[in-house]
This record gives sequence, structure tokens and C-alpha cells, in this order.
Amino acid sequence: MSGGVRARSTSVEATRDLAAALAELARPGDLVLLVGDLGTGKTAFCQGFGRGLGVDEQITSPTFALVQTYTGRLDLNHLDVYRLGQVNEALDLGLNELLDDGGVTLIEWGDTIAGVLPPDFLEVHLTASTDEPDVREIDLLTVGPRWSARVRAVRTALSAWLVDGPAGGPGPGGGAC
Ligand SMILES: Nc1ncnc2c1ncn2[C@@H]1O[C@H](COP(=O)(O)OP(=O)(O)OP(=O)(O)O)[C@@H](O)[C@H]1O
Ligand SMILES: [Mg+2]
Repeated sequence: MSGGVRARSTSVEATRDLAAALAELARPGDLVLLVGDLGTGKTAFCQGFGRGLGVDEQITSPTFALVQTYTGRLDLNHLDVYRLGQVNEALDLGLNELLDDGGVTLIEWGDTIAGVLPPDFLEVHLTASTDEPDVREIDLLTVGPRWSARVRAVRTALSAWLVDGPAGGPGPGGGAC
């Protein structure tokens, strides 16, 4: 599957660890959209990603403020747009300024405002298992050049959690793609 990486997490800590490993690859201006039903682990993913960026502060669900910025190796802008009434409210958040400020931006429910975002991001889909309460399927899809150029690096960074093995054939993670 071109531009796609499939991983599996069996605990909330594993999801955080996976996200922390991914954060090692982060660059200024990166955009990551978190997609998944309520309670699938989008905030947990952001917490791990923040840890990987060296954020010391506790990352929580943005409630009253739609945007929270944390200081790390790179700044982390954390947004949850679930309660956003209208897509054009997203423009009022100053998204373009955020994306230009040299940090990394993670948006929970980001797929709902994809139309007003630059088409250059990593989409992380979290899906809960129907019969195993702590299992999440985590599909990472690159859109645009920024993350597409890093697919191999993503597979390497996430090799411990890959479902279908690392790029280029069989390896420690399992069989061929
Ligand atoms: N493998 C897993 N990965 C992530 N979370 C898990 C996992 N297994 C169980 N959980 C639990 O699922 C919940 C995920 O909560 P979290 O707030 O991260 O979800 P969310 O997708 O951000 O929810 P919301 O849509 O309300 O923002 C936590 O209670 C966590 O302990
Ligand atoms: Mg959340």
C-alpha cells in the first residue's frame, strides 16, 4: 500500500510509545491529523508524541481553548476541533500562522477540516477492536510530499508495532507488504 503504514497497539502505553517514536521524525511545520471515533486514543497519541518532542508539561484534551501550545524540542500545537461548529471557524483559529510558526501541529478530528488545510500532512487513523478492549489498529496515511518522503523512515521508526513488516520485504516485524 503506497504511502500507508499499518500498526497495532495493545495498550494505551503502547500507543504513546508508538507516537513518541514517530515524533523523532518530526520537522518544523509538520501537520498530523488524528482520525478516529470517541475514545480511540487520539489524545493518548498526542501525549506520546509530545513526550517524543521533549514536552515536559502534561498534555490534556483542549477543552475551552481549541488550541494549546507546548514547548519541546519543537513546539507542539495541539488542537481538538470536535466542537467546532463550522469549518470556517477553523480559519479563525489562525491555522496558517500556527503551521508557519516552526512547531508541529496535531489536530484531533482533523479530517473534518481537511478542506481548509494545506494538502500536506500525515493522517493517523485509530480504530478500536470490537472484541479486544485495549487493541487499536493504527493506520498512517501520507498526503502530500512532506510525509510521503519519510514513509520508509516511518516504517523503520514504528517497526516494533507494524502489522505487515518493514518496507522492502520481510524483516523482524513480519512478512512482505
Ligand atoms: N491501545 C490503546 N491505545 C489508546 N488508548 C487506549 C488503548 N487501550 C485502551 N485505551 C483507552 O482508551 C481511552 C482513549 O482515550 P483518549 O482520550 O486518548 O481518546 P480520544 O480519541 O482522544 O477521545 P475523544 O474523541 O473523546 O477526544 C483511554 O481511556 C485509554 O486508556
Ligand atoms: Mg481526545
